[in-house]
Amino acid sequence: MGKIRLLRCVSCGREYLPGEVQYTCPDCGDLLGTLDVVYDYESIKRKFSKDILNENGDFSLWRYLPILPVERTEYIQSLHTGWTPLTRFYQLETTLGLGRLHIKDDTRNPTGSLKDRASSIAIVRALEGGHKVVTAASSGNAGCSMAAFAACAGIKSYIFVPDTIPRAKLAQLVIFGANVILVKGTYDQSFELCLDASKRWGWYSRNTAYNPYLVEGKKSVALEICEQLNWKIPDKIFVPVGDGCIISGVWKGFCDMHKLGFIDGLPSLVGVQAEGSAPLVEAFEEGRSSVEPIIPHTIADSIKVGNPRDQVKALRAIRESSGTFISVSDKEIKDAINLLAASTGIFAEPAGATALAGLRKAVGERLVDPNERIVILITGTGLKDIEAVDFDIETKTIAVEPSIEDVERKLGIFRERERP
Ligand SMILES: Cc1ncc(COP(=O)(O)O)c(C=O)c1O
Ligand SMILES: [Zn+2]
Repeated sequence: MGKIRLLRCVSCGREYLPGEVQYTCPDCGDLLGTLDVVYDYESIKRKFSKDILNENGDFSLWRYLPILPVERTEYIQSLHTGWTPLTRFYQLETTLGLGRLHIKDDTRNPTGSLKDRASSIAIVRALEGGHKVVTAASSGNAGCSMAAFAACAGIKSYIFVPDTIPRAKLAQLVIFGANVILVKGTYDQSFELCLDASKRWGWYSRNTAYNPYLVEGKKSVALEICEQLNWKIPDKIFVPVGDGCIISGVWKGFCDMHKLGFIDGLPSLVGVQAEGSAPLVEAFEEGRSSVEPIIPHTIADSIKVGNPRDQVKALRAIRESSGTFISVSDKEIKDAINLLAASTGIFAEPAGATALAGLRKAVGERLVDPNERIVILITGTGLKDIEAVDFDIETKTIAVEPSIEDVERKLGIFRERERP
């Protein structure tokens, strides 16, 4: 028997053997019938330990192979993913009045977002299943990521994105050779279209939540946080939330580590949504276990989701971890992009900085104790969405002749501008 024991439906609890179903629970449907991957933890424990990790020189997400859902390691692609830095930035800590703030910088992944963690797994599973075509619906990052891994593996990808996708994300898709389908509609509509296409043509589906193994890739961020904190458990982790797949993955990672005995407690998760796109915040506050779909509005395109596909797992993650959901305005997101860049040197896209916006708000509302150990996830690079930020280029630049005298004459302009 492989390391996966079974797949369990998050809604009805029905259990399936691996291979019995490919994606979701047939009884509960594509949205509510998402599946949890349950491992044979006892047998994994016998072969996997902190000492073994200490000896492991593979500094990528594959250092956690014993607890990842792949068997055929020859299909692992060379595109390096994971083991991103977890770092303290003292200037930012001082600004926020916090004592122990750790930034997990997932902009460092190969295509610039955390989504590479899921695509690393998806490509191996696609190849294990003999697939020659993969497909994904995406607001941008997941598609770019899948396209890159498909390019690396030499197979075809069909990526469905809303036609409002930021241009740099479109450029990434095109340069990786994806067949790009620009949908004249929303991300939610792109998702439905992609599901239909994968069912009709048998393409391997890298669709968030629908494919249960994607959460397993995303959980690697939590495994790394555990190890990078030397197995100390954070008090709170702030995570941006659109479909809810990342936050479900973070929770799964901590739960798996707990089941394996690597950690002896669990953190609280704080899911952060954009105000105009916050159906999970609403469902949580009203005590519901599923979401009322909405028409979403926010500058943070990656979390602009009206009907979150991993809603059941995301709500469960917040409740089980005694955490909470909060929302932040677009203005707070833009301010967080600027604060992060100016105090750490990390440039995040709007969704990528949303966790920081949430933390800042939580600090303001005294939901955070200054001595708590806090982690925030920075999930995607700002270079892929420069249209979203109003750059103050006029006041930050001067134009000069190519002479040092002209530079000297005009340097004063900066000083003038700095005067209060
Ligand atoms: C940069 C970034 N942050 C956050 C998210 C939200 O992740 P999820 O949809 O799994 O909640 C996404 C998803 O596209 C993303 O690309
Ligand atoms: Zn079910």
